[in-house]
Amino acid sequence: MPNDLEQIRAEFDKSFSGSESVEELEKLKVAFLGRKGKLTDVLRGLSALPADQKKSTGEKANVLKGELETLIERKLAGLKNELYASRLKTEKIDITLPEVPLSAGHKHPLRRTIEEMSSIFESLGFVTAEGPELETDWYNFEALNIPPDHPARDSQDTFYLVDGKRLLRTHTSPVQVHEMEKRKPPVRLIVPGKVFRNEATDASHAAVFHQIEGLAVDENIKFSDLKGVLTVFVHKYFSPKTNVRFRPSHFQFTEPSAELDVECTICGGKGCRVCKGSGWLEMLGCGMVHPNVLKAVNYDPEKYTGFAFGIGVERFAMLKYGVDDMRLFMENNVEFLKQF
Ligand code: PHE
Repeated sequence: MPNDLEQIRAEFDKSFSGSESVEELEKLKVAFLGRKGKLTDVLRGLSALPADQKKSTGEKANVLKGELETLIERKLAGLKNELYASRLKTEKIDITLPEVPLSAGHKHPLRRTIEEMSSIFESLGFVTAEGPELETDWYNFEALNIPPDHPARDSQDTFYLVDGKRLLRTHTSPVQVHEMEKRKPPVRLIVPGKVFRNEATDASHAAVFHQIEGLAVDENIKFSDLKGVLTVFVHKYFSPKTNVRFRPSHFQFTEPSAELDVECTICGGKGCRVCKGSGWLEMLGCGMVHPNVLKAVNYDPEKYTGFAFGIGVERFAMLKYGVDDMRLFMENNVEFLKQF
């Protein structure tokens, strides 16, 4: 081995035996094998040597390079193993710890309320139908006996599309008309869905909310049938002890008309923000289907009678879950939704 290679080897051996950490070994590697390392210098200088020396020195230098690399890599690997071994001793995984549960999504409280309400009506023989949210004047008003000068048609209450013809349904009642056009009596339907009103929002009013429409048409349907069905519904949804009252009211598409109030379960009837101090909450409108509505769908009003109702879903959900602000249902704040 040429002198300088021997010298390099000797120097290396000395430093190598004193290198006891990963950092020291990395430094050693740079000093001998790096871009400006001692052995690299020799390899780079080969081209300047006379031809006879070039070959033998080149071979030897390359062998030496391989040896130094192997020595360093082995020692490094040993050191790393020791490190892992000592980490293994101090770091442990306790496989008996209970797992962190994944948070699974669940149904929105309004969806749950709609499903629960629907199943009560289904148990009473009603079937579920759906209808469009975008309506025409005919279905939302005209066929429901709402005349052109009726205040409900005012843009203060109704969202009209720019074409001035279509509108966002203000109630689920237009689906009564769609369904009666498709069916012959007897009809027993419920229709859950979104409705839209152009009005200021507060704790008990929203511009977008949900209703469940109900409709029963047959021979001999009486107001007492309506009272019976709705009272059973409230007692099944809340409790048989929940007080209800029917109050005379007015809707263009029912005659006679009524509103059903439920005793406020938030304050127990004492009066609070939600029931505006009255102790009662207005939950739904109802009545006997107006003969003009039956005529609009070619049902014979001499032969058939019916009742209809429109339930405010949010109000029922508020009472059931003790929520005192309707807007919370549509804000989709996860912290709120997680509680259901
Ligand atoms: N459509 C009425 C409303 O939105 C509710 C209703 C439905 C009343 C059916 C009577 C009969 O207020």
